[in-house]
Amino acid sequence: MEQGQLGKIVVPLLEWYDKNKRCLPWREDREPYHIWVSEIMLQQTRVEAVIPYYERFMKRIPAISSLADCEDEELFKLWEGLGYYSRVRNLKKAAQAICVQYQGVFPRKYDEILNLPGIGAYTAGAISSIAFEEARAAVDGNVLRVITRLTQDSHDITDTKFRAKMTHALERVYPQTGRGDFTQSLMELGAVVCVPNGNPKCGECPLAALCGANQSHTQSQYPVKKRKAARKIEQKTVLLIKCKNQIAINKRESKGVLSGMWELPNLDGELTKAQVLQWLSEQQFAVTGIQKSENAGKPFKHIFTHIEWHMTCWIVECDSTENCCNSDFTWVTVEELEHDIALPTAFKKVYEKTNL
Ligand code: ADE
Ligand code: SF4
Repeated sequence: MEQGQLGKIVVPLLEWYDKNKRCLPWREDREPYHIWVSEIMLQQTRVEAVIPYYERFMKRIPAISSLADCEDEELFKLWEGLGYYSRVRNLKKAAQAICVQYQGVFPRKYDEILNLPGIGAYTAGAISSIAFEEARAAVDGNVLRVITRLTQDSHDITDTKFRAKMTHALERVYPQTGRGDFTQSLMELGAVVCVPNGNPKCGECPLAALCGANQSHTQSQYPVKKRKAARKIEQKTVLLIKCKNQIAINKRESKGVLSGMWELPNLDGELTKAQVLQWLSEQQFAVTGIQKSENAGKPFKHIFTHIEWHMTCWIVECDSTENCCNSDFTWVTVEELEHDIALPTAFKKVYEKTNL
């Protein structure tokens, strides 16, 4: 299929969506707040995993005004496991902006939506079409996969110019009614039928008769993605320091990866036991025991977008009779660490796999 014939997909796709759409909590109404929060959550996590997060979030923070007023710690706790805390920080910033600039009412104009913190072309398109029935497309990886297969388009889908072109091409074919459904039908087809990794379910696809890749059996050749630069690997030595039934945690610097979040004390590089003990004594810890947390002989790994942490972990016991608890750290009980503190997944992994 040629890109100029894109209009042909609208009717079959809408009919298919009407019969096959999944019941998802954010599809129960067209409340912009609901669409917005769900789209931000869905940018980093699969639908099934998002559902419980979304439901808990809406129970606790049912409206834009409550989001604007929510304490960061509570917000981070609700986000724990979804990754990228900058997204929830921007969510709150945008809620505050909506309260100040728009009297707490979500703006309807595309340009106003796009101007809110954390909202890019994809999210603005999704909100505009789904909540407000505007002819705006929301082009994410799912949609790019569907369209490049349909039109056998070999452009690099990581190229923002190509994404913008695709967005405009789609917007020209948006229907008069069912615009929000059209946006969602494209996402839905990409998520459940035109799935990634070369095995789309073309036999169930409402667009099979129109699809270039299906006709030429070239599904696996699309989408074309430029190879990403390899992630940088950083070695870290993480310390689980226990004293008087408490564990030391620390606030990270306000810049860089996981800025401003809680962390377990950690040092750059893979330190030896002697080096760890040296550092602990410099920090005035009265160490009574130290033991490596074994992970089948391998480091604990955590992958961020551009870096990968390989962490070794040491369990450190301090003398609870001496007043050794260094005041540079925050001391929390296991209970507090597990229930009140939003500990980023990188550290949570190490903590959970370590027998204290
Ligand atoms: N992925 C991103 N947004 C989505 C939505 N609204 N429905 C299903 N999957 C999605
Ligand atoms: Fe994707 Fe197959 Fe449908 Fe083409 S026919 S859009 S490749 S699922």
